[in-house]
Amino acid sequence: MAKYEFTSNLLTGNAIIDKEHRELIDAVNKLLEACSGGKGAEQLKATTKFLNDYVDKHFAHEEQLQQQSSYPNYTAHKAFHEKYKQTLREITSGFSDAPSFADTTKLNGHIGVLITHIKTEDKRLGEFLNKK
Ligand SMILES: [Fe+2]
Repeated sequence: MAKYEFTSNLLTGNAIIDKEHRELIDAVNKLLEACSGGKGAEQLKATTKFLNDYVDKHFAHEEQLQQQSSYPNYTAHKAFHEKYKQTLREITSGFSDAPSFADTTKLNGHIGVLITHIKTEDKRLGEFLNKK
């Protein structure tokens, strides 16, 4: 069963961002599934790498959209992204050997931060882009 679901309250109104958020949640669920064991070390390594890479790619896309549209909140939004990526790498760095309960709890907490960011800052960005 998927742990996180892409629900309508996560929609930002920007098709590219929404599509990528959907993929992001998918990647989170796959990593959590691998964390819960039974999938083997290879799967854990692959899903950890995929999530980190996907977050990098997606944040870069959002930042590009912000720069192209002269988004006024760009600096703060980018600062959040940088810190978020760094913390995600710190949390998942030990995942190649079986992640502990504490590690997965930390990861879940960090995903919660992302969901809140989507519901607030990314929604604000989506509204701005739609008014352009
Ligand atoms: Fe964002």
